[in-house]
Amino acid sequence: MKVLILGSGAREHALAWAFDRSKRNTGLFCLPGNAGTEDIALNLTGDPSDPLAVMGAWRATGADLVVIGPEAPLAAGVADALRTEGARVFGPGAESARLESSKSFARAFSDRAGVPSARTVHFQRLADFERWLSESRDGQVPGAPFSGRLVLKKSGLAAGKGVLESDDRSELRSFARLILADDELLVEEYLTGYELSVFALTDGKNYLILPACADHKKAHPGDVGPNTGGMGAVCPVPTADRTLIDRIDREIVAPTFRQIARELLGYRGVLFFGIMVTAEGPRLLEYNVRLGDPESQSLLPLLSSDIGDLFDAVAGGSVADVRPTFRDESAVGITVAAPGYPIDYPKGIPVESLPDMDGSSLVFHAGTVRDRKRGLVTGGGRCFTVVGLGDDYFEAHGRAVDAARKVRFEGSWFRPDIGKSFFLD
Ligand code: AMP
Ligand code: GLY
Repeated sequence: MKVLILGSGAREHALAWAFDRSKRNTGLFCLPGNAGTEDIALNLTGDPSDPLAVMGAWRATGADLVVIGPEAPLAAGVADALRTEGARVFGPGAESARLESSKSFARAFSDRAGVPSARTVHFQRLADFERWLSESRDGQVPGAPFSGRLVLKKSGLAAGKGVLESDDRSELRSFARLILADDELLVEEYLTGYELSVFALTDGKNYLILPACADHKKAHPGDVGPNTGGMGAVCPVPTADRTLIDRIDREIVAPTFRQIARELLGYRGVLFFGIMVTAEGPRLLEYNVRLGDPESQSLLPLLSSDIGDLFDAVAGGSVADVRPTFRDESAVGITVAAPGYPIDYPKGIPVESLPDMDGSSLVFHAGTVRDRKRGLVTGGGRCFTVVGLGDDYFEAHGRAVDAARKVRFEGSWFRPDIGKSFFLD
C-alpha cells in the first residue's frame, strides 16, 4: 500500500514513522514533510491545503491511501476533492471539518447532541460584548458559578492563538476587539480541572476510542504562562481509567456520533474530543477533526498493531472489523521549542545536534528543513518532539528529558515536567 501523508509537523513525522514500520508499506510520500520525514519517505513540494496540488501529488504517486494530518487541508475541502476522484482518504470533508473550523458551529452542534460543555455566549459586535461585560453580574456567563475569569475564543481557525483566559477586563476588551474585527466571538465560563485528549477513529457509523493522552498547553512548568500549541503529552493517563472513559463515551462521544449520523455525511478519519475533567464530571472543550499534536507523537509509538490495516479500515469504511492493540508501556513526549515561543520567535535556527533514535527515544521533527548552506534549520515555534518510551512513566520521562537535553540549537527550551502532575502530588 502506497501512502501519501499531508502536513509538515511532528505529528506527520510520527505518522510517517509508524507507516514506515507497517508491513503494508510499499511506498511512503509526504506533502510537504520535513527534514525528518526525508529519511523515511519521499518529500514532495506543494501546499497541502491546495486541492489541485494534492490531486497532482496523489496522481503522480498512485497513493492507495491519503492521510491528512492538519486541520487546514480538511477545512479547505481537500478530502472532498480527493474522494470525488475515487481516492481512499483518512480525514473528513469540509462540512464535517466545521466541527473544528467554526467553534460557533461546533458549540451549537454539541448542544444539539446534548453534550455537556462550558456555558457559552456568542457575540458578533464589539458594542454588544462591551455592554454585556459592563452589565452582566461580575461579567459571568449566565448560569455559571463565579470564578472571576472568562475564556474568550475566536470562532474560526487560529492555529492555537485564538483563546484567551483572563480576569483582566482591559485585556478581555482588547482581545475581543481583535477577534470581532473579522470573526465571531465566543465567551465561555472558565472551567477548572485537568485536560484529556480523547481520539475516536470513525467511518461515520462505528467508532473506536484510542488510549487517552494528556497534552500540556501552558508554556511553563506547573501549568503557568501563555497557551501554546502543546508543550508535551503523556500516554496513557493513569486517571483515565475504564470508569472515566466509559463515562466520557456515554456522555460525550456516543451522543456526538449519534448527532453526526443525523447531520454529517460520510465522516471518515478521527474525531478528537478536547475534554476538561471537572469536579462535576467531564466537559467538552472542543472538537478537532484530526489527530492531536503533540499527542500523536506519544500515542503512535505505543500502537503495536499495524497502522496500515487500521487507517485503511477507517478510510475504507470498515472500522467494525479492526481492533488495534497498544503496548503496555508509557510514552512521554516533550516539545523542544524556539526561543520566545509562543509569542515571537525566530525561524531558521541552525540545529547543532540531535539525540539518536534508539527504539526507546524518538525524535520527531516539526517544519525543519535541510538548508544547502547551513544544514538542518528549525522551521517554527515548536521545533521537535522527543519521545521517551519505558515500562512506566518514570522510565519514559527520564528518557524523554535526556533526549530533550540533547536537542541543541540556540535558545532551545522545553518543559521538563510533562506528565508529572498525574504521577506526583
Ligand atoms: P480550545 O482551542 O477551545 O481547545 O482552547 C485551547 C485551550 O484553552 C484548551 O486546551 C484549554 O487549556 C483552554 N480552555 C479552552 N476553553 C476553556 C474553558 N472554557 N475553561 C478553561 N480553559 C479553557
Ligand atoms: N494538542 C492539541 C491539538 O492538537 O490541538
